[in-house]
Amino acid sequence: MKLKIALLAGDGIGPEISREGVKVMTAVCRRFGHEVEFVSALVGAAAIDAVGDPFPEETYNVCRDADAVLFSAVGDPRFDNRPDLKVRPEQGLLAMRKKLGLFANIRPVATFASLIHKSPLREDIVSGADFVCIRELTGGMYFGEKYESDDHAYDTCAYTRGEIERILKVAFDYARRRKRHLTVVDKANVLASSRLWRKVAQEMSRETPDITTDFMYVDNASMRMIQDPRFFDVMVTENTFGDILTDEGSVISGSMGLLPSASIGEGTPVFEPIHGSWPEAAGKNIANPLAQILSVAMLFEHFGPAEEGECVRKAVDASMEAGVSTPDIAPDPSKAVGTDAVGTWISDFIAAER
Ligand code: IPM
Ligand code: MN
Repeated sequence: MKLKIALLAGDGIGPEISREGVKVMTAVCRRFGHEVEFVSALVGAAAIDAVGDPFPEETYNVCRDADAVLFSAVGDPRFDNRPDLKVRPEQGLLAMRKKLGLFANIRPVATFASLIHKSPLREDIVSGADFVCIRELTGGMYFGEKYESDDHAYDTCAYTRGEIERILKVAFDYARRRKRHLTVVDKANVLASSRLWRKVAQEMSRETPDITTDFMYVDNASMRMIQDPRFFDVMVTENTFGDILTDEGSVISGSMGLLPSASIGEGTPVFEPIHGSWPEAAGKNIANPLAQILSVAMLFEHFGPAEEGECVRKAVDASMEAGVSTPDIAPDPSKAVGTDAVGTWISDFIAAER
């Protein structure tokens, strides 16, 4: 396999974890005989500083011409609490998703046996929890009609049947590869857009009898996720609900630094951690690179070779078992290691495994 990877490191801890992703990806390609080429491009606050645009045309071209994007994080405190600013780092991420047509965001929520004690939830509740949230990514309030003035503002949550059908199709396909249980999360008791989601989902579920489909209001789903996370296998929901629920899901595992995601659709797929840019930690070599490294596993799995992805996951598990971890998950925080040491340990492990 010959892979061309667009590297969008972005802001805050982005460049540090990006380096570790590259290290691991290089090790996997060397071991399995794949060729890989990385092309870096600007995004987020870094791009605003350099060229005044959070997703410059040049970056779009690099992404379009690549086989996959390895994305890290965007966001910078200089832009927070400044509702007056018109150009913001996060717009770079949204523009990338929209321009590449990435309508489906796959966010697996899994627990790691060696980390269960870090979860804020009791072990008997979280142990064995393992589900996937399929978040719609290019519609809803994020992209609907907006208006902002000094005394009136609104966002619109709009969905077409076509947009709902294509994301539900991804969700049914995912459920088929897992335990065949799909939960459609909406707010159909209040929102018109949710009622269309539910109508389309009911129609499709009648044509998909091999999958058990149930429906849950989003408020109830957020409660169920911490009360009984093992209930879920695959969940599908609109953009904003998915944003909120997946942050909630990420703490179930014990650290936000652990969850990767894949965004797929029409154009080049993007693989990225679900956590943000954690500006306070930038340059300190303390950020957990595992979500970025697990994004590399998802990248390989997307292109088919299960063995490559498996090899990354095995190395990640081994690093945690060996206690080679950043402070957020280290069993003994006084023995925690740096971001770079975790990436080096994992790539050495991959190189040595034959
Ligand atoms: C995420 C992030 C983004 C989102 C932000 C940075 C725009 O929170 O990927 O979940 O809201 O989608
Ligand atoms: Mn989010």
